[in-house]
Formats: sequence, structure tokens, C-alpha cells
Amino acid sequence: MSEKIESEKTNHLQKKLVLGITGGIAAYKCADLVRRLKERGFEVRVVMTVSAAKFITPVTLQAVSGYPVHQDLFDAEMEASMGHIELARWADYILVAPATANTISKLVHGKADNLLTTLILASRASLLVAPAMNQQMWANTVTQNNIRVLESSEVIILGPEEGEQACGDLGAGRMMEPVDIANQLLMLVNKRNILANKKVVITAGPTVEAIDPVRYISNHSSGKMGFALARAARLEGAEVELVSGPVALCEPAGVNMTRVTSAAEMLEVVKQKIKNADIFIGCAAVADYTPVEVASQKIKKNQELMNIQLKKNSDILTWVASQEGRPYVVGFAAESQNIKEFARKKLENKKLDLICANDISCQNMGFNSENNQLFLIDCCGVEKQLSVASKIVLAQQVIQEIELRMKTD
Ligand code: C5P
Repeated sequence: MSEKIESEKTNHLQKKLVLGITGGIAAYKCADLVRRLKERGFEVRVVMTVSAAKFITPVTLQAVSGYPVHQDLFDAEMEASMGHIELARWADYILVAPATANTISKLVHGKADNLLTTLILASRASLLVAPAMNQQMWANTVTQNNIRVLESSEVIILGPEEGEQACGDLGAGRMMEPVDIANQLLMLVNKRNILANKKVVITAGPTVEAIDPVRYISNHSSGKMGFALARAARLEGAEVELVSGPVALCEPAGVNMTRVTSAAEMLEVVKQKIKNADIFIGCAAVADYTPVEVASQKIKKNQELMNIQLKKNSDILTWVASQEGRPYVVGFAAESQNIKEFARKKLENKKLDLICANDISCQNMGFNSENNQLFLIDCCGVEKQLSVASKIVLAQQVIQEIELRMKTD
């Protein structure tokens, strides 16, 4: 276990969590989920539906959680040891993962037809739901409406993620990875509402610069860091405007998101959203150059050599930083060498308040990866290394570092 997780564990001694597993194929990931939650200091009691037990055995979950698994509302023995009402009172958090479309629908309608749904109705614990289902079931208007109802009742929706599905489909509906679910819970436990009444504008993802109707110039940015920052800022009570280039990520709950394509479009949206903002975080990997001309028809390959003339894009960060009454401005620097030196130069040239630099030459870090490592330098010259962690954990730390500096400004 990393030192980071060890130190965070001590912040919230033994939070009590009921993990409700419902009958989706992603249930097989729940042994790992329990382990990750326990690593982060949660005491976990597992409740399973009948169909969940078709995907993972109660014995496995008993072994990893260290407690008997609750399955049946009418099991006299289990009710005698810790009855469902007692369990409902015991829990600080109830996490339903994976949450099927069926269980989500039951939660919306207040059904209490099994142990898990009864427990949820009888509890005052914070409820988190990690949907997992076929992409078509997820996209269905009925499911989407149900999710909106849950969100309006303060239920936290974690994921789902996009990607390949067990059924062979491709799309949104995969359960969020156990490590990310566990990290999100950790963030929830540690949150202090430090950005209440603050407006935060964040850019994320790559930009796509068209060459012709078919080709474009872009980069490998996945948008994960920017989206994690948006979630972290929202969780800390901020009003969040997320301006993202094309990414395969779902809109974070409670965040106002605008999807854009090119750098020019991103700048235009930022100009609209930046009014009254307290913080601007430029996390997007904005293309530095864009074609001078975009061919209206597909360019034919009849030349051996071809030149595309490029012109520099406007720098969004520099534009925001040069505005009168500007917000607190944070930039990112993805570097493959001389990280600190290049980051320091960027901080000065773009007149930033804080820069977060990452080394993209390290394997398994930075672009497209779940993890990152950031080196922070602020306008007073104070430097801080944040150790390797998931982008979700790092995002929360960056938000805390920003708030700390805004307070002392
Ligand atoms: O100059 P460079 O692209 O390396 O700087 C990276 C930082 O500047 C990132 O925070 C990125 O979001 C921001 N940026 C921007 N507009 C551009 C280029 C970069 O806001 N046109």
C-alpha cells in the first residue's frame, strides 16, 4: 500500500460503509473493490442481491471483508446478529456497485423488495451509486431520467465509464474502476466544502484542429486530469464550468460542461464563462498550431510531398491571466525534460499564480494514464512535489493547494 493512502487513512478512522452488490457482470470486481476500500480505512459490510450471487460468491466477499455477507431480509440468523435496521443505522455510507438499471429504477421509486433496497430506504447514510450496464440500457431515456432523479435527491453517481463491455458492445456503461470508486469515497470523506461560493472554470482534454473534412491535428490528452479537477472542485462546493475538447468521458455530475472541438472554439467559450470566475485552471492540451486554411473538400493524395501551413493558436491561459480583475490562474505543463526549469519559465511568461508540471517521459504516467505525478510551483517561488497517485487523488490535492494560496494572497 502506498504511503499516500496510509497517511490519508488516518484522517478518517474507520468510516462505516455498506457495499450493496447487485446482479451485473461487474460484480466480479467487488472483491478488489472491498480490498481497496479497506486499504483506505473503511470498515465494509457487504449486502448482495440474489442475482449478484450468480456473479461472485458470498464466501469470497466474506473472506475479503472479514464479515458475514447479508443476503436475505428474512434470514433469522443474520437478523439476530445485525438486523437490517441496525445495519441501516450503522452505515455512514452506502455504496451500490455495480448498480444495475433494475436496482436504479427501484431506488427512484422507493421500492423495498429486497434486503438492499429496504436498507437504503431505512438509512440516513450518504448514498453512492456506481452504475454498470449495457451501453444501450445506460443510454435509454428511462435510465437517464432515473439517474437525474437520483442526482436531484443528492445521490452521488460514480461513472459509468466508456469502453469495451462484457457483452461486446462499446460505449458508456462500464463500472468505474474499483480504485477510482475507492478514491472518490476518500475524497468525499475528506471534503471540507472549501470552495463554497466560488466559481471555477476548467479546460480539459485535447483540441482538434481540422485540416480537411476528414483529417485533423490533435494530441493524446484523455481529459482525465481536467475531469478529475472538475469533480474535485464540485465536491468542495464550487460552481464548476468545464470546457472540454473531444474526449471519451462522461459529464461529471453537478458540473456545467461545454464540449468544444478547436482551440479557437475553446477560447470563445472560456471568454463567455470566465465572467465572475474565482479560479481558472487551464488543464487542456490545447494545440499550439492550427492549419491556416481548412480545405472544404477531402485533400487528394496526388502529391509526393505536401505542406500544410500552420499558424499559432491564441494562448487561452495567457489571455485569462491578462484580464483585469482576473481569477486565480493555474496552468499545467506537460514536459519531457528539464521539467522544473520549463515549468518555471511558463509560470513567469504566462503570468500564472500556480503551475502544475508533470513528466510525460515517465511510463504509466501523464497522458491517457490513470496516474500522475505533479510538481507545483507558485508565483511566490514556493515549490511542492505531489507524489505519484491517481488523478482523482491528485486533483483533490491541487484544489486544496489552490485554496490555501488564495487564502494567503
Ligand atoms: O505553452 P504550453 O502549451 O506548454 O502550456 C501549457 C499550459 O497552457 C496548459 O495549462 C494549457 O492548458 C495552456 N494553454 C492554453 N492555450 C494554448 C496553449 C496552452 O491555455 N493555446
